[in-house]
Amino acid sequence: MRFLVSAIIACLPAFVTPDVFNPDPSIFPDWSKTEALTPEHVIQTKQLGTFSLSPDKKRIVFQQYQYNMTDNKSGTEFKLLDLSSYSQGPTTLIPYKYDQSDSSPTWYDNETVLFTSVRGSPANNLFSVSARDGVIKQVSNFTNGISGIVYSSQAKRIAFVAMVYQNLGLEESAKLAAELSEKPSSGVVYDKLPVRSWDIWVTKQRAQLFTVPIDTVNETLVFTGSPVNVVAKYTGEWGLEPDYYTFSPDGSSILFSAKIEGREEAWQTEAGIFIAPVDGSSAPVRLNSNFKGAASSPNYSPDGKSVVWLQMATPGYESDQNQVILYDIATQKQTRLLSDLETSPSYAGFSSSGKSLYLIIPTQKDNPIFVFDLATQTLSRRVADGAIADLVEVSDDELIISHSTVQHPSNLFKVSTKGNISKTQITFENDNLLKGLWMSPAETFWFTGALNEKVQAFVLYPFGFDKSKKYPISLIIHGGPQSSFYDQWSVNWNLNSFANQGYIVLLINFHGGDAYGQKFTDSITHNWGTYPYEDLMTGLDYFLENAKYADGNNVAALGASYGGYMANWINGQTDRFKALVCHDGVFSTVSVSYSTDYFSSLDHDLGIAYIESQRNMLEKFNPERYVSNWKTPTLVVQGEYDYRVPVTEGISTFAALQRRGIDSKLLYFPDENHMVLKPANYLFWTGEMFNWIGKYTNVTTWEYKNE
Ligand SMILES: *[C@@H]1O[C@H](CO)[C@@H](O)[C@H](O)[C@H]1NC(C)=O
Ligand SMILES: *[C@@H]1O[C@H](CO)[C@@H](O)[C@H](O)[C@H]1NC(C)=O
Ligand SMILES: *[C@@H]1O[C@H](CO)[C@@H](O)[C@H](O)[C@H]1NC(C)=O
Ligand SMILES: *[C@@H]1O[C@H](CO)[C@@H](O)[C@H](O)[C@H]1NC(C)=O
Ligand SMILES: *[C@@H]1O[C@H](CO)[C@@H](O)[C@H](O)[C@H]1NC(C)=O
Ligand SMILES: *[C@@H]1O[C@H](CO)[C@@H](O)[C@H](O)[C@H]1NC(C)=O
Ligand SMILES: *[C@@H]1O[C@H](CO)[C@@H](O)[C@H](O)[C@H]1NC(C)=O
Repeated sequence: MRFLVSAIIACLPAFVTPDVFNPDPSIFPDWSKTEALTPEHVIQTKQLGTFSLSPDKKRIVFQQYQYNMTDNKSGTEFKLLDLSSYSQGPTTLIPYKYDQSDSSPTWYDNETVLFTSVRGSPANNLFSVSARDGVIKQVSNFTNGISGIVYSSQAKRIAFVAMVYQNLGLEESAKLAAELSEKPSSGVVYDKLPVRSWDIWVTKQRAQLFTVPIDTVNETLVFTGSPVNVVAKYTGEWGLEPDYYTFSPDGSSILFSAKIEGREEAWQTEAGIFIAPVDGSSAPVRLNSNFKGAASSPNYSPDGKSVVWLQMATPGYESDQNQVILYDIATQKQTRLLSDLETSPSYAGFSSSGKSLYLIIPTQKDNPIFVFDLATQTLSRRVADGAIADLVEVSDDELIISHSTVQHPSNLFKVSTKGNISKTQITFENDNLLKGLWMSPAETFWFTGALNEKVQAFVLYPFGFDKSKKYPISLIIHGGPQSSFYDQWSVNWNLNSFANQGYIVLLINFHGGDAYGQKFTDSITHNWGTYPYEDLMTGLDYFLENAKYADGNNVAALGASYGGYMANWINGQTDRFKALVCHDGVFSTVSVSYSTDYFSSLDHDLGIAYIESQRNMLEKFNPERYVSNWKTPTLVVQGEYDYRVPVTEGISTFAALQRRGIDSKLLYFPDENHMVLKPANYLFWTGEMFNWIGKYTNVTTWEYKNE
């Protein structure tokens, strides 16, 4: 039996594929009664965070964050949704307040929710809030912040991670860190890689996994013992950093995944799946020593007798296919499930009956959830469209998911685990803010791209669409490169905000994408500048030939990360674009292969620069080699704390443009990393980007008043 994507699609209710070249007039509103979505709307939407189901399965608690542009302030709130009367809307558990940053709401019992926050304490600590009267109590008072809380009523413990030095506890580590910061010299000595990780310089502290017993004593929730580091007795290289953990159903053990440390950790991807006793009394036992690749998403079966996880087989390849491994604890036997699956799941966990698995699997334009029935070995898709971020099981028949599309930010929905695939929306937090605004759907077309293979593209229509007119195009190029555009909401690079400026948004899921089978993903290996570029050009040509409403003389191309690499690559290959935006993009494949914090991706995809036989691939696909061809006006965007594609790549790109006399700007953020995260910076950045492409494509765009 095969689990081809086409077989899955066949289970969907029949629908007519929209014709993007001749869009159905009924999808467009009466433009005179419709407003455009602006970046101000996007940045002020409520952003759904963690949600959690009460033990009695009657209520959901969810966290959300919101920024207010008028006041330049943001804060969080917790809301409670009664599942039997969701149509009446949620009630407030912790009211929204500026500068309040409460996170990870987690039920302790049917009336109490645990969460982490600072709230005037020395660091991020544990608090509780009563679902009966909203009374908040502080539980822990550490000087060393904790995060990622998980509670088990069987273990009567919470698990969390905290940064500590080798052989030191929470408070001793906080004390040592404070002492070190008082030393006269600020010099730091490294004797191994990595020195940086994402946006921080690595210190000698590591994120370790702790558990601590917790109980209600005299009606007060307290720790009834000290935190224990369950990783401390690990016999391998010190410094395992558990990134996903869950208690065993009987509460005796904790299961986690963690990257393996050691001399080669900065360029290797190997991760272990471990089980440790909750009290840290013995060393964690590794379940997957037979593999040298990455591993993730370990989860217990409800009877505690087996474990499922996702395993990559190829060492050093972070985008290898995730195999679904079922492990029997008693016999230590591993069985690969779904071995005919062509794509790579990103999550696997058991249903509470133990009879099926829930899987999240990127599938063409969507990122849906599937149920895999273990008895019949059948996989069934449970959401027809869009992207799911998280799920909880309410019963054998029902899940609650957070779900978005390009037309709406994440909301909670009910979906059924069998039968009818339709979903029911149960939260509507942004309806007031977004009502009356235009949101283009993401419609798709296929064309024949590189290798004579079918490639999928998305189109969003411009605000005010009139098929007798011609519209400029924003060709947006995804990063990764082994990822895809999904029909999904995002604040950064919000696709509808481009469409609402009057652009056709064109997205091409070129070779290397993660939603079209592993062979398609793997095809970008040693091909950074060939198949993706070919797909982008062929897809654009095909679109222009068929969409009479597209203005082929007014096309801008924009991309971040690998998409920024591609913007620089494009500049050396063609002058067909009116303008480019290169955001945190690679300028020199050779220099970035030494300066990035993330060696494995370049090692795998292009090779290692100092190995002569491999260097030619880095040279072959080096945008810097083609600077003498560059002609296209380019906006370069770069964050100081971007350690993935470090700041010198952005400076180099800008220097190349300026010295060649090409119209260009550098937008530099002294306080951003590989992304633009601060709300006011998001507005400034989006304004600069719109302004840049607008200037060259003859579009008057929204402007940000930076005051
Ligand atoms: C922002 O705060 C102002 C008052 O300070 C309020 O009038 C406005 O509605 C708030 N905006 C949003 C999106 O909630
Ligand atoms: C807006 O808020 C940010 C974060 O609190 C702050 O850094 C910035 O200075 C504020 N901007 C203005 C204009 O007040
Ligand atoms: C929560 O309520 C359910 C159903 O009423 C009950 O079975 C369970 O014991 C309660 N859990 C706790 C932790 O109080
Ligand atoms: C928490 O610890 C700080 C010292 O680090 C102390 O000043 C404060 O009173 C403590 N708070 C509580 C609630 O115990
Ligand atoms: C609980 O409260 C009672 C009465 O106030 C007191 O005698 C007892 O010591 C308390 N127990 C604990 C563990 O604090
Ligand atoms: C599926 O469920 C939805 C909502 O519950 C309902 O409107 C629809 O008629 C159902 N479709 C089928 C085929 O049962
Ligand atoms: C620019 O757009 C305006 C209308 O928005 C149009 O009148 C004008 O002809 C355009 N100019 C060019 C060079 O296309």
